[in-house]
Amino acid sequence: MSREITIRALKYNPSDENSKPEFKEYKLEETAGMTLYIALTKIKSSIDYDLSSDFVCRAGICGACGMLINGKPQLACKTLTSNFKDGKIELLPLPTFKLIKDLSVDTGSWMKNMSIRVNSWIVANEKTDISKIEKPIEPKVSDEVFELDRCIECGLCVASCSTAIMREDFVGAVGLNRVARFQIDPHDDRSDEDFYELIGDDDGIFGCMSLLACEDHCPKELPLQSKIAYMRRKMVGVK
Ligand code: SF4
Ligand code: FES
Repeated sequence: MSREITIRALKYNPSDENSKPEFKEYKLEETAGMTLYIALTKIKSSIDYDLSSDFVCRAGICGACGMLINGKPQLACKTLTSNFKDGKIELLPLPTFKLIKDLSVDTGSWMKNMSIRVNSWIVANEKTDISKIEKPIEPKVSDEVFELDRCIECGLCVASCSTAIMREDFVGAVGLNRVARFQIDPHDDRSDEDFYELIGDDDGIFGCMSLLACEDHCPKELPLQSKIAYMRRKMVGVK
C-alpha cells in the first residue's frame, strides 16, 4: 500500500542577493522502490521546477548526489524513501563544499584542489615509453591499488569529518586514501619522504582525529581508517 511522504528541502541561492535560506515542504505519493533520486526528480518535474540538486548516474557511481539526509551524509540515488518509517525526510546540502544552490554543491573544485595538493598522479624516475607494455605488478598489489581506486569522489567522507569542518585546507580521507593508493603502487617511485612533504602536517595525515565518520559514511566501504593509520605510521617514521 502506498503512503504519502513529506520531503523538507533547504532552498537558497547564494548568488541571488534577494534569496534567503528557507525550508520548502513537498508532499508526494511514495512508489515501490522509490529512491530519493526518484522523489526529487518527481518534485522537480511536477511540483517545484526551481529546486536544484545534482545527479548523473542514478547508480552510486558518479558521486554527484551526496546530501545530508536527515542529518547523515548519503547518496540520494542509493537511499530508499521506505527507510524512513515516519515518511518524513529532511534534506540539506553537504557542508564543507561551496553551495551552488539548494541541494547542489561544488565538490568538483574541492576535489581538483585536493588532487593538486596531494600530487595525485604517478611520479616515476624513468620516462614512460608508451610503445612498451606497462611494467607488470603482483596481482595482490594491483588488487590493493584497484580497491583504493574505487573512490567516486562523492565527498561524503569530507562532509562527515570534524577536521574538514574546522580546517578548510584539510585534504580529508579522500586525499589521504589517494596518497595511500600511490604509496603502494610500484609504478610510483616516490619515497615516504616525498609523501611527507605533501601530507606531513595538520592539514594532512596529522589532522585526522580518528573519529571514524569517514569510513562509516563512505558508500564504497573503502578501508579509510586503516589506510590513514598505515600512512600515519609511515609518516611518523620519516626522519
Ligand atoms: S573515500 Fe568514500 S566517501 Fe570519500 S569521496 Fe571516496 S567514495 Fe566518497
Ligand atoms: S547519481 Fe551518481 S552516485 Fe548518485
